[in-house]
Amino acid sequence: MAAVGSAVGLGNIWKFPYITGENGGGAFVLVYLACIAVIGLPIMVAEVMLGRRGGKSPIGTMAMVAGSEGRSRGWAGVGIMATLTAFIILSFYSVIAGWTMPYILAAVGGEFSGIAAEESGALFGGLLASPGQLLLWHSVFMGLTVLVSAGGVRHGLERAVTKLMPALFVLLLILVGYAMTTGHFGEAIGFLFRPDFSALTAEAVLVALGHAFFTLSLASGAMMAYGAYLKKDVSIARTSVVVAFMDTGVALLAGLAIFPIVFANGLEPGAGPGLIFVTLPVAFGQMPGSSFFATLFFVLLLFAAWSSSISMLESLVSYLNEKGVSRVKAAVGGGLVAWLVGITTVLSLNEWAGFTPLGMFERFEGKTLFDLYDYLTANIMMPLGALLTALFVGWKMKPAHSAAELGSWHRVWYPVVRYLSPIALLIVFYFNLK
Ligand code: TRP
Repeated sequence: MAAVGSAVGLGNIWKFPYITGENGGGAFVLVYLACIAVIGLPIMVAEVMLGRRGGKSPIGTMAMVAGSEGRSRGWAGVGIMATLTAFIILSFYSVIAGWTMPYILAAVGGEFSGIAAEESGALFGGLLASPGQLLLWHSVFMGLTVLVSAGGVRHGLERAVTKLMPALFVLLLILVGYAMTTGHFGEAIGFLFRPDFSALTAEAVLVALGHAFFTLSLASGAMMAYGAYLKKDVSIARTSVVVAFMDTGVALLAGLAIFPIVFANGLEPGAGPGLIFVTLPVAFGQMPGSSFFATLFFVLLLFAAWSSSISMLESLVSYLNEKGVSRVKAAVGGGLVAWLVGITTVLSLNEWAGFTPLGMFERFEGKTLFDLYDYLTANIMMPLGALLTALFVGWKMKPAHSAAELGSWHRVWYPVVRYLSPIALLIVFYFNLK
């Protein structure tokens, strides 16, 4: 359940719908599902397996497993990159997660009741235009993350998550039910599931791949760190399949809830990161009991983001902990630096919206610092980390050792992670660098 808590987050409800909208729908969704099955799931199994064998922080685990396989301890580099990846993600994730809080307040105040799409857009635009507000909520969210990470309440939050996840799921079902009444449900189904491959670019394939890692919390130490806590008698493969299924289910439900509303209100599917924050208030506003459902939804989204963000800090905190730094100091120190970096994301949304440091390269045209953090982590660092992980378990580790962890699933998993996943990753890289 902790792994589900890490996996299900803003990636499913905020990011999946908006990148699907930006990348043309159906074909993108299909590629994303293929990436989950062929690359994401096998890599998750590999990470959890490594974590359980190593039993340490991701950096410590990689060094130790590589050492015990008679390989260079330089493989710890995979753990270092993963820790750094999670850290960069945390810096901007906190800013986005912060948005849920003013939305909770607005929902409680009944501001969504009967709201039109235009007003909702203006409300969201007002939030983005205010660095002060963004900074405030970013700070609160980072504080919450550090609080849990520093110790004490961790188990409490995990127990809460096991109750809140099903609630989030039910609420999404209610939203899908509402979406069916808009008269645009069929259109949304077509958009999400009827692939138009002429709309698919090499870049979109890379985005789909990157999102498969992001949404499953891979190549960033989270699953490796949690693997270290997994008991010996639990099936790694079965656990991973459950996590991947739940995560994918939540994302698809979010898509089914949001796109009918987008089409019914003449909104733009490719509107970008604000998509759900503009569309959902409109939907809630037309439902009976709007303030109740809207409040509940944004509270649940906040918790989903919270249970994800603590797993981002976990790689770093567990590593520093091994090096003798106390959990409290590690969490506060790490959180503080991530908070500082996060301020550049806050500013990317307003004052620095025109600051595109790598704009001279065509690939990065128009990308703000926030866009670059997202691009660098999801589209470069995570696929690279996953490739190295696949090469390590597929070629450097004795198959008998991974088989001892995975049992009968090993026969299916091994050829996939040894050949199929690396080849698929290399193909995507090739077409993007070309
Ligand atoms: N999977 C989370 C989501 O979809 C994001 C996430 C949680 C994550 N932990 C992570 C991403 C660690 C990268 C690394 O919202």
